[in-house]
Amino acid sequence: MCGIFGYVGNEACLELLGDGLGKLEYRGYDSTGIMVYDQTIQVAKTKGRVSDLLPITGDLSKQATIGLGHTRWASHGKATRANAHPHYTDHTAIVHNGIIENHNLLRAELDESKVSFKSETDTEVVLHAVEQALARFDEPLEAFASVVRQLEGLYAIAIFLQATPDRLYLCKKGASLVIGEGAGGLLFSSDPVALAGYCQEFIFLGDQQIAELSLGTMDLYDYRLQPLENNPRRHKLQLSVENIDKGGYQHFMLKEIHQQGAVLANTIHRLFDFDSVRPRADLLGFERLDLDRVQRIKVTGCGTSHHAGLLSPYFVERYLQIEASVEVAHELRYRPALLDDRTLLIALSQSGETADTLSCVEHAQKFSCQTLAICNNPHSSLTRLCDAMVHLDCGTEVGVASTKAFTSMLLTYYMFVLSIRHQRNHPPSSEIYNLRKLPLLVDYVLNSAECIEQIAQRYYQAEHFIFIGRGPSYPIALEAALKLKETSYIHAEGYAGGELKHGPLALIDNNLPVLVIAPADNYLAKTLSNAKEIKARDGRIITLGNSSNQEIQKISDDIIPCPYVNHPILQAIVSTIPLQLFAYYMAAARGTDIDQPRHLAKSVTVE
Ligand code: M6R
Repeated sequence: MCGIFGYVGNEACLELLGDGLGKLEYRGYDSTGIMVYDQTIQVAKTKGRVSDLLPITGDLSKQATIGLGHTRWASHGKATRANAHPHYTDHTAIVHNGIIENHNLLRAELDESKVSFKSETDTEVVLHAVEQALARFDEPLEAFASVVRQLEGLYAIAIFLQATPDRLYLCKKGASLVIGEGAGGLLFSSDPVALAGYCQEFIFLGDQQIAELSLGTMDLYDYRLQPLENNPRRHKLQLSVENIDKGGYQHFMLKEIHQQGAVLANTIHRLFDFDSVRPRADLLGFERLDLDRVQRIKVTGCGTSHHAGLLSPYFVERYLQIEASVEVAHELRYRPALLDDRTLLIALSQSGETADTLSCVEHAQKFSCQTLAICNNPHSSLTRLCDAMVHLDCGTEVGVASTKAFTSMLLTYYMFVLSIRHQRNHPPSSEIYNLRKLPLLVDYVLNSAECIEQIAQRYYQAEHFIFIGRGPSYPIALEAALKLKETSYIHAEGYAGGELKHGPLALIDNNLPVLVIAPADNYLAKTLSNAKEIKARDGRIITLGNSSNQEIQKISDDIIPCPYVNHPILQAIVSTIPLQLFAYYMAAARGTDIDQPRHLAKSVTVE
């Protein structure tokens, strides 16, 4: 994980570095640091956030025109000031994203008598390896390249060498690194998002390439230092400097939950043409896929995106009558799993930078699968890797807990499936017209926020929580449990209602709240009978469903009102939103760091 950012040019860069790091903080926020060079290497770093770093940069040169920055998610070594990047000596400073798998080997090759380690990181090993290589090579670039050639793992690295004080060297494998021209110089970043406002265009540094950046000049080499054609493909920066504020809400998570009405209405408007009663295949990646040969859909992703994928069998099989399976990326990538040229692998990801998901796509491509990314970042590594992509376009999601990306992912994926259905000449399903109702239903559930907050006040001290659902509500139970865990730090589990009697029922007592997801679908009777089994064992029940249903009233300690819509995906969306609110208010009552929960990062770029 981690975000790296840097600048070389003719303008003072301290403020620019702080600004860039702020935009990369979603990648990790447990420690952060900045180095600038002005006659000497000057570093400020700290445990904590970019907002903790800026007040301690007072001693750094305000005139420096070259510098590096880093925001960290700890992988090697705890989140401490010592382990924060940049790592540096009097002559060299380095920032790094990713993992150097052979750091022990590299360390063993160092002349330890000349090294004193200040951190527990793999990064510092690279720093010292480069310093020792400088003594063996005439050219600093050659010294850097000699070390880079030995690195194993997935990484992006930027280094400053005092021997060449007007330049920065970059290299990467796997992790993303982009370079743009702007602010009177060259900037680089882990993500184009941090270049917005400075650059119109950017390039992606390729795997196993080295970039040498100096004032107005960028030279690219392969790892053998063969110069590369100096006209790499330029990409237009489609991101504007979005005014990323909380819009009057106390947290980004709450704002993003409330944005879902507008986001989903926009998704429908953009992707569905009600006149022809069909989705817009041109916006759904169709031009780049051969869908006639698709006989099976495999969906992959991690965390919340995986939960969105878990809905697949409930609608793909129904609308397309083909097999649809789902598996977390970090498991699927290690198995052939019937992947072949008749399989379409759909990778779901908000960020498009999740390392496990990327590796899984690479794995599937080896078996000739076609690959589609459904993603919120059109410039991401995932969208470039896949054969085709569909943009979620739900706006930046800042809160680490994914909310609006989940529901827009479900809707977008459903549109894609509908479009294949149309292409295969299946008659349009009458349920499509429910799409028009969705924004209203979302408004309805958002209006229950106050009632949900009051219910959360009664349960926020619980230490454990169970969510149950049947059919399409089962993945929603898993997602609700994840939201509660990551925002409130309450241990929570999601189960298929039918599974309780196979073990989890033993957990039930009057201290364990169970939230029953009970929309008025075909599963309702069975779901309520699971709820009764819980009641009979003194469990406390909160039901999400129709508050006028007498049976629900009888068994429930509390009811979160939720309307019913006869459509598996739309119902899943409508059921999810109150549970996002529930997790939010539980976390708020417990006083956790809702937008940046402990130990997590928004984008998980390490395996
Ligand atoms: O960016 P992605 O959708 O690929 O991220 C996948 C997961 O890391 C992510 O959904 C994570 O589970 C969220 N924090 C859940 O809210």
